[in-house]
Amino acid sequence: MSPFRDNLFAGKSAFIAGGTSGINLGIAIRLAELGAKVTVCGRDEDKARRAAATIGNGALGLSADVRDYEIVRSAMVQAHDTHGALDIVISGAAGNFLAPALAMSANAFATVVDIDLNGTFNVFRGSHDLLNTPGASLIAITAGQAVNAMALQSHACAAKAGINQLVRVLALEWGPDVRVNGISPGPIADTEGMKRLAPDPATRAAHEARIAMKRWGTARDVAESAVFLCSDAAAYVTGTILDCDGGSQVGDASRLDMSRGLA
Ligand code: NAP
Ligand code: COA
Repeated sequence: MSPFRDNLFAGKSAFIAGGTSGINLGIAIRLAELGAKVTVCGRDEDKARRAAATIGNGALGLSADVRDYEIVRSAMVQAHDTHGALDIVISGAAGNFLAPALAMSANAFATVVDIDLNGTFNVFRGSHDLLNTPGASLIAITAGQAVNAMALQSHACAAKAGINQLVRVLALEWGPDVRVNGISPGPIADTEGMKRLAPDPATRAAHEARIAMKRWGTARDVAESAVFLCSDAAAYVTGTILDCDGGSQVGDASRLDMSRGLA
């Protein structure tokens, strides 16, 4: 049972970069269920159209690459002109693959930084004069890589760490009219991200054992965190990163297994 009332976001306009699949699509669906008029964008036009049909409530699905400021800006202008000044902007587009730094070309590293970090700057910077203020809420989708060094993830660690700091700086510069926060999901089931990061059952089981909540999250879990951050319940919350990760960042719960057999 969700604690949020059905029409919480009636009359609100939301733009979700990277909202055409996975976690971000889950957020888009939830915002629309609560009454928001939603626009999603990704690179693939057909996928964006299909996502909009799934989201419903008059959702708009646009093709735009967040690496190109003018293109993503024009998608946000279209969202603004169709659904009204933006109350909610979510920057969730990302790219990732497992590779040691020595197996990455300069372009491989730059590609991930460009999508995740520069893309988030482009989306937030490009949205600013399209926002409905005061009260607009911006959310970056970051990850545990921002604060935990992980082998095979130099590009994602660098990019997501940059996003966390960008969130904090924009919160300082754009308050009090705009709140800027991040959500750091843990491993979320049935996503492209986890297909890439935990491709086999043994890795998946090891991930699960380490988590306090003993399960992977769902896109809906993350969506409810986004709903909270966009709602008046979070009116005094800005510049923070909300870990929606079942306790993943707290530590390693699998160490408990070592206590079996201890007095
Ligand atoms: P996903 O399904 O692959 O979603 C990525 C989205 O971004 C898609 O809509 C994709 O559409 C779009 N995209 C990719 N490159 C783009 C670009 N250059 N310009 C515009 N859109 C672009 O991934 P996911 O696993 O759900 O991850 C979503 C977010 O959650 C990411 O920020 C990820 O870092 C974060 N996260 C995920 C997990 C997890 O467990 N999956 C954990 C922690 C954090 P197109 O391919 O059509 O462009
Ligand atoms: N190991 C090492 N290098 C890799 C790699 C891998 N597994 N996958 C891609 N690269 C390199 C490419 O070789 C290329 O470098 P080069 O030009 O020096 O050869 C560079 O990365 C860019 O690859 P390209 O395929 O041209 O980029 P793209 O912009 O078309 O796609 C990616 C971006 C690579 C991030 C792609 O995986 C993607 O589109 N991801 C989106 C979905 C996703 O990752 N979801 C999970 C989100 S957490």
